[in-house]
Amino acid sequence: MKIGLLGFGTVGEGVYQLAQTHPELEIVTVFRRKDGEIPGCTVTHDFSQILNDPEIDTVVEVIGGIEHASEYVLAALRAGKNVVTANKALLAAKYDELLAAAKTSGAKFRASAAVGGSIGWLANLERAKRIQEIDHIHGIFNGTCNYMLDLMTRQQLDYQQVLRQAQDLGYAEADPSADVDGLDTAAKLTISANIAFGISLHHESVPVSGISQINSADITTFTERGYVCKLLGTADKFADRIEAYVQPTLVRSSDATAAVHTNYNLAEFSGSATGTQSFGGQGAGRYPTAYNVLQDLCDLLAGKSFHTDTVPQSEVTAENSTQLHYYLRGDSTDLADWPAAEISAHWDQGILTTAQPVAKMHQWLKAHREVFAAALPRDFQVHEMK
Ligand code: HSE
Repeated sequence: MKIGLLGFGTVGEGVYQLAQTHPELEIVTVFRRKDGEIPGCTVTHDFSQILNDPEIDTVVEVIGGIEHASEYVLAALRAGKNVVTANKALLAAKYDELLAAAKTSGAKFRASAAVGGSIGWLANLERAKRIQEIDHIHGIFNGTCNYMLDLMTRQQLDYQQVLRQAQDLGYAEADPSADVDGLDTAAKLTISANIAFGISLHHESVPVSGISQINSADITTFTERGYVCKLLGTADKFADRIEAYVQPTLVRSSDATAAVHTNYNLAEFSGSATGTQSFGGQGAGRYPTAYNVLQDLCDLLAGKSFHTDTVPQSEVTAENSTQLHYYLRGDSTDLADWPAAEISAHWDQGILTTAQPVAKMHQWLKAHREVFAAALPRDFQVHEMK
């Protein structure tokens, strides 16, 4: 296999290094912004040098972002070159277009590293849905946020400290607001729902609230009551609708999800034959992510492609009518806007709401961006409130 590698940042360099011990995976040309030699490869700033090289049969895209990546990946697929990408934003935004391009040209396409870093979650989802109906997925899909929330909880560190650490470790996106505002999780949830439910979910219809407003006092409030805060993505397939949303969520400290530490992800699905299955591993970082890019390349060598046989015909919009209790904490003006009749209890500086439709809560949060909100577990009982 002769490979054109697009991008030589954290993941790209990891792909290059892991490929060195696999002579059948030959990286011929690297497209990168910076100058500088890379042993054994031609370095170019011009993508057409890869596109027009008939020797290169496979393109690996790890530059991230949507605009340029989409242009390059679609051009490569249309030219019949196989593509492996780790780009979740691209896949979430252009899922049906990418699948259609691969189907038309017959190019093979894989994206296992786009969700779950090292886990191989998407490959497992594809296998799972060959045999059964999947009606629920949820999980921790962002290593940066999990790292931050975990260290804030277990080591009582503050928000800025842990964000800097996650950046230094190479977990965070170039602009970490994609992590802490939940957009990265939303992209990964969208892709997972697409594969699990055989749909094309309109990614902008997935409501998102992130962790950027959380503080150490919130964490203490949760710890004292036996909860741990995680940023979760959840999607359900009901008979009449698809639900999908991303939000900080409190899990009981005895729950397995609470024990997911540092940059680890935990992704789960519920299937008609298997019941619930869980998949875990490092969700971010150079080698964990590069590992699954290499796995995809090995799958291409074995002739396996992403499922391009069923390209969804039209986009689905998330409709979130599930009702949950929420913890809300903000300044007194913001909280005064929450109807008194819909408060069930007070937790230190925050309030607990009565059960609210997820869609309604996210609508309210859009107008109250300084408020930190966390959903209580689905089976939360009012008598648990203290
Ligand atoms: N910034 C992402 C994360 C990288 O923290 O999970 C892996 O997709």
